[in-house]
Amino acid sequence: MTILKKALYPVGGLGTRFLPATKVMPKEMLPVVDKPLIQYSFEEALAAGCEQHIFITGRNKNVLMNHFDHAFELQRTLDEKEKKHLLEITRDWLPKPGQVAFIRQQEPLGLGHAVWCARNFIKDEAFAVLLADEMLIPDGESSLNRMVKVHEETGGNVVAVYPVPKEKVSSYGIIDPEGEGDVVRIKRMVEKPSPDNAPSNLSIIGRYILTDAIFPYLEKGQRGAGGEIQLTDAMQRMIEDGHTFHAVVCHGQRFDCGSRRGFLEANIGYALQNPELHEPMVEIMERFLKKARKK
Ligand code: G1P
Repeated sequence: MTILKKALYPVGGLGTRFLPATKVMPKEMLPVVDKPLIQYSFEEALAAGCEQHIFITGRNKNVLMNHFDHAFELQRTLDEKEKKHLLEITRDWLPKPGQVAFIRQQEPLGLGHAVWCARNFIKDEAFAVLLADEMLIPDGESSLNRMVKVHEETGGNVVAVYPVPKEKVSSYGIIDPEGEGDVVRIKRMVEKPSPDNAPSNLSIIGRYILTDAIFPYLEKGQRGAGGEIQLTDAMQRMIEDGHTFHAVVCHGQRFDCGSRRGFLEANIGYALQNPELHEPMVEIMERFLKKARKK
C-alpha cells in the first residue's frame, strides 16, 4: 500500500476551444455556477487525501495562481462588513503555506510533457493527475476516492474511464479492458483512435493515479496524436513493459468542459444540484423549453 499525497494539475494549455473567452483568462478559471473549474478539481483531490498540490502552468496563468492566494483588500472589506459567508468562500478553503507549487511548462507540448515537467518534485511515490476540464457528478463515491482504494490494493497505476458513444471515441484516450466490471485491468490503451480502431467505448476522463515509473517513459519525448507528447502513449509503453494499470469505470453525470456543449451542461447539472438554484433552474429551463418548442 502506498499513500497518495501529491496531486498534479496540468493547466498550461492554450484553451483554444474557448476563444475568445480564454484569450487572457485561463480556461481552468471559467466558472461552473460560481466556482472556477480548477477549484472543483482541487477540492476533489483534497477530499481524496492529497496534501500537496502542484500546478503545471504556462504564461497567462497568473490569475489562476492568485486564486490560490489571499486577496487582502477583498478579504478586509468582507471582514469589516461582516460578510461571514462570503469571507468563508473566498478565504477559508485556501491551501496552507507550502502546500502548493507552480511549475512553468515553457511550451505547451502536450499532456505527457506537462506531467514530465513535475519529475523533479515527485520521488519514489505515486501521484494523482487531475484535468480540470473534466467534471463528474458521481452516483456515489468520487472517482478519485474509488481510484485511491484500487491503488492501495494493487500498488499500481489507475485511470478513471467513462463510456462514450462510438462516434466520440476519437476525442479521448480509449482503453482495452480485460473482462467486464467496475474495476478492470487494462490490456492496452490508445490515444484518440478512429471509431473503427477503438478497442472499446471506455474513455479516459482525466483522472489518473500514476507511479513515478512513468517519468523515464515521458523523458523520451515521443510525439503521438496531434504531434503532442501524449500521456496515454507513455502509459501504453509501460503496459507493454509489464506495469499494471487498472481502470475504475465511473457512473454518474460526466461533463467534458473542454467543449462548449459539455461546459453548458455542467452549468445546468451543477445548478440543479445546488439547493438554492435547483428551483430557479427548473423554472428557467421550463420557460426556455416552452419557447423553443413553439418555434
Ligand atoms: C486528454 C487525454 C485523453 C483524455 C482526455 C480527457 O486529451 O490526452 O486521453 O481522454 O484528456 O478529457 P485532451 O482533451 O487534452 O485532448
